[in-house]
Order: sequence, then C-alpha cells, then structure tokens
Amino acid sequence: MSSSPAWPIESLYVHVPFCAQKCEYCAFYSEASSGELVGRYVGSLQRELELIAHDLRPRTTFFGGGTPSLLNLRQWESVLRTMGRLGLLGAEEFTVECNPATVSLDKAKLLRSFGVNRISMSVQSLDEVLLDRLGRVHSREMVFKSFDILRQAGFDDVNIDLMFAIPGQSLEIWHATLQEALALGSEHLSSYEVIYEEDTPLYAQLKAGEFDVDEDLACDMYEELVAQASAAGFRQYEIANFARDEIQPGTRNPDLGARNVPTRACRHNVNYWRGGSFYGLGPSATGYVRGVRTKNWSNTQLYCEQLEKGQRAIESTEELSALGRAGETAAFGLRMNSGWEFDEFQRVTGKDLREEWQTDMTNLAERGWGRLSPHRFQLTNQGLRFADTAAEMFLR
Ligand SMILES: C[S@@+](CC[C@H](N)C(=O)[O-])C[C@H]1O[C@@H](n2cnc3c(N)ncnc32)[C@H](O)[C@@H]1O
Ligand code: SF4
Repeated sequence: MSSSPAWPIESLYVHVPFCAQKCEYCAFYSEASSGELVGRYVGSLQRELELIAHDLRPRTTFFGGGTPSLLNLRQWESVLRTMGRLGLLGAEEFTVECNPATVSLDKAKLLRSFGVNRISMSVQSLDEVLLDRLGRVHSREMVFKSFDILRQAGFDDVNIDLMFAIPGQSLEIWHATLQEALALGSEHLSSYEVIYEEDTPLYAQLKAGEFDVDEDLACDMYEELVAQASAAGFRQYEIANFARDEIQPGTRNPDLGARNVPTRACRHNVNYWRGGSFYGLGPSATGYVRGVRTKNWSNTQLYCEQLEKGQRAIESTEELSALGRAGETAAFGLRMNSGWEFDEFQRVTGKDLREEWQTDMTNLAERGWGRLSPHRFQLTNQGLRFADTAAEMFLR
C-alpha cells in the first residue's frame, strides 16, 4: 500500500447503482437490482475503499445513488465494518440517501450505530397521482412512516428532497405538498425543478407532445418554495437548498456559520460548490482530487471486473488548466446565495475573479442578475433562477 500523504482528502462520495425500479425522469446511473450483482458490487466497493484509504480521512461522507437504502442489513454491515477497519468512519457528517419504500427500523439503527448521522430522504411529491406519474415506488403514507422511523432510530438531521414543475402539478398541489413536507420538521430541504434529461421516458413524452412546459408556472412554484421555506424557518443557501440555522449546544457544523451558510447545511455539498477535493467511488461516480477529475465506468459489471483484478475502475481522467479549473469553481460557487468572496476564491483557485471575470460580473450586475460589492460577487434572487446561464460566462 502507498504511504499516507501529509494532507489526505477529507470528502468521500459513494454511488450505489441500484433502484427498485427506474423513475420516469431519472438519468442517474442505476439499474433495477438483482441479488447476485448487488453482492458482487458490495465486495468490489470494499476493494475500492481499500485502494484509496491511505489518502482519505473523511470529514464528510455521502452515500448516494441509486438507492443506498436498498442494500440489506448484512451488506451495510459488511461495508461499514470495512470502513471501520480502514479508519474511514467517524466523519463529522455522514449522509445516506434513502427511498421511503426501503427504510426499516433495524436498518436505520444499524446505520446510526456506525456513525451515519444524516439521512436524505427522496420524497419528490406527497400527491399520490404525481408519485405514480413519476414512477416512484413509494406512497405518501410511507413518507410519514419512514420519517418517524428515522427519528425513532435517533436521526436528528434529515433532509427531504422534493420536485416541482412536474407535468400535471398545479400550484395548489405544490402548495399543499410543501405545507405537509415542511410540517414534518426536517432540518434540511432540497427542492429541484424537473429537468428533462435525454434518454428518459419523461423526455420522450415531452418530445411526443404529451404535455407542455409552463415556464411561468415553474417560476411561481419557485417563488412559493422560497416563501414557504423561509416562513417555516429555513434559510436558503443554494438555488435548490434550504437549511435550519441553529446555534445550540451539540449542533454540528459550527464552522459553517463562518462560511455564511446555515449550520444544518449539507457540508458535503458545500465542499463541491467551494471547489474542494473529494473521492468518488462506485460505478459512474466522479471524483476530484488535487485538480484531477476522474470518472468511474458507468457499468456495474465492468466496475466489478476491474476491482476484482485489483485495479480502480476509472474510465477517464482529466486535468484542467488552472484557469479552466478556476472557471468551473466560480460557476459552482455562484449557485450559492453567498456567491464568492474574492479573497476566498483566490485562496482556493490562485486566481482573482476581478482580474479574469470583471467584464462578466459587470455585465451580470447591469442585467440585475448579479451584485458586485467591494469584497464579494453574488447572484441576486433573479440571477439565481438563471444560474446555469450565468455560470456559463465563467467557463474558460
Ligand atoms: C439521484 S436522486 C437519488 C435519490 C433516491 N435514489 C431516490 O430518488 O429515491 C437525488 C435527487 O435528485 C433529484 N433528481 C433526479 N433526477 C432529476 C430530474 N430529472 N430533475 C430534477 N431533479 C431530479 C431528485 O430530487 C432526487 O431526489
Ligand atoms: S430518482 Fe432515485 S429512485 Fe428514482 S431512478 Fe433515480 S436514483 Fe433511482
């Protein structure tokens, strides 16, 4: 095994590429699970962890997917024991994504006992017709039941994912879903507008003219989201992310306050948006380690074959120029309400936003999309709505 670098990487993402069934809108790499392949994946993931453990001391860990909660008790225990043996447990924030149909008290307790302290539960909607329309495997009742189970198992940091601008969703339905979801009292809320990803059934239906996209309605829904989340005590810190801000004994992430994001923000994602390094394991996962981006094969069979031979399953490696990297980092960071403090940007990237992107920032400020102050550039509320277009101006 290689010797340990002086500054190991502090962030770990693990992709679990299995789902009970594929949702109509989803383009993430995952497939319907088959017992044998899941077992093989679990073994291969442990090999992959062994290969990078010498360069990893996670402060944040995130198991996403796919549906990590689909792994059974035995499989979870085996992965977590390996992580323990390799010194990879004990992250300050350890999140596992769960589908409400696959949460059980035994599993939740097991995760908690190994130091998982945050759950991200994918709800999407609380309207039965829309859940069905999206191809979700869970019902609204399962959401309420699973949320209770998570609390019972000791999780005091839970995120809920919702989607809006779903075909067939009215403003009234969205209003009701938001009210019910916020009444659960989670610590965090992520809410995404539907993206029509190529190669998904929903995209094919759009192209076939089965429904239209209503941009004005989507804007009204976004405004409703921001208003209701704020009235429920959440602070928005990124286009799609809202968290509670609590200063009380035992609260995790006190340093996030200093970074101008709420204390219950997802620290793992803040690291992405701030251009930090992270390892990405599992099929299709991307990693970004000391300026080098890697992407694993999006093929679970191939992923397992490589690791069974003792090799990492990397399909591609890319090293961007310093300016290209800084541009990407600028673009990611602008998704956050706090934008970029010029000094922090320079510390992270070695580049000065005011030297490389002054014209672009002035242009955005003149359009009403950006706000330039002596120490910082950030997008306005209007700019955040069009952050992807704004961000493109920074890519070099
Ligand atoms: C990759 S999914 C994983 C969550 C988990 N597998 C589940 O859905 O039960 C993470 C989140 O991305 C969002 N998402 C996935 N595809 C999307 C799309 N096409 N448009 C908008 N949001 C999407 C959903 O809110 C989802 O909860
Ligand atoms: S949204 Fe989640 S559950 Fe649905 S297919 Fe994608 S990864 Fe799987």
